[in-house]
Amino acid sequence: MARINPNYGKLEAGYLFPEIGRRVRVFQEKNPSARVMRLGIGNTTEPLTPTVINGLRRGVDLLADVATYTGYGDEQGEMALRESLARRYARYGASLEPDEVFVSDGAKPDSANIQSIFGVDNAVAVQDPAYPVYVDTNVIAGRTGKWKDARYEGLVYMPCTEENGFFPDLPRGKVDLIYICSPNNPTGSVATKAQLKAFVDYAIARRAVIIFDAAYAAFISNPDLPRTIYEVEGARRCAIEINSLSKEAGFTGVRLGWAVVPKALECEDGKPGVLNRLWFRRQTTMFNGASNIAQRGALAVLSPEGQKECQGLVGYYMNNARVIREGLESVGLRCFGGVNAPYVWMKTPNGLSSWECFDKMLEEAHVVGTPGSGFGPSGEGYFRLSAFGHAEDIERAVASIRENLRL
Ligand code: MLT
Repeated sequence: MARINPNYGKLEAGYLFPEIGRRVRVFQEKNPSARVMRLGIGNTTEPLTPTVINGLRRGVDLLADVATYTGYGDEQGEMALRESLARRYARYGASLEPDEVFVSDGAKPDSANIQSIFGVDNAVAVQDPAYPVYVDTNVIAGRTGKWKDARYEGLVYMPCTEENGFFPDLPRGKVDLIYICSPNNPTGSVATKAQLKAFVDYAIARRAVIIFDAAYAAFISNPDLPRTIYEVEGARRCAIEINSLSKEAGFTGVRLGWAVVPKALECEDGKPGVLNRLWFRRQTTMFNGASNIAQRGALAVLSPEGQKECQGLVGYYMNNARVIREGLESVGLRCFGGVNAPYVWMKTPNGLSSWECFDKMLEEAHVVGTPGSGFGPSGEGYFRLSAFGHAEDIERAVASIRENLRL
């Protein structure tokens, strides 16, 4: 007799974004003529740049000729791409070997799967609010108890509030796996080197592991802010980093990411090298490598010309972030983030709950955002707006909020 994984039964409602989609569909059925403007999910909208298109085309052309055709490649990615990624880290002063970089089909699968190389009895700490994937995958793996009072029993929530600048204090008590995302989704805050150093020191002292999601690193313009955790001394001993070209290069549909699992990384029962080998083992067992076409595209993204063009894309979305932030502030809404990150974190007006704010935005301004409470209990009373969208749509949405939202 087959039985289901009972941990799925612990998951609270649906995954956040499908739930938003469901509510929007209900609204549209009732209001068929309303033009809904979507600043909800962080989904890229602008076309790939010319250099990147050429790289992808080159990948297709290689497949068209028997002399250059390739089938399965190395599960961990083409060496040329791993070397190119290692060189990028070197530019930030972080020295990594190419075999510490594992190319994948994106940061979401990596941030979901990475927990599988750790025992089920690890205590997990997450920033609160957090990208739901960190939480849900640990629930499914059985590292938490039940959903109760807007939180999972057994999970350590590290509140990120206005008081601490939306970066958490060190966890109280012992935790083993610590998820940190900077630039942060959803709050748009960015950790300083000193803030990351405190967590690195904490992790080394307790032989804990930090899972650092840097998927929005390309959106940092302030040169003093770290673009990788490996800018912090000691991080190679205690941190895994996950990154992606989804947002930086518009690869949300192309799919290309990577995880860095340093050989120096250790944990309570794993000497240096063990976690790197386990991730290699996991990937070679369960993954057949990123698409060879996507990897050609990634090499083009990382070329000097590709980087210049992608910075243009990033600048485009960051201008949207500025428009959102300034527009909301002009009607007295309190906003955070949106300066070195493509998300604006808005305090809901008049003490509304996050979902009340969602409904109000949708009904009065026809704008879709993401309720902060969907990211964790400390997100209650906040609302996230994404800067990914066509500039004219963002401007229209902001104008609608300014004109139609009854404050
Ligand atoms: C978000 O809106 O939080 C992101 O787009 C989701 C994702 O990258 O998977």
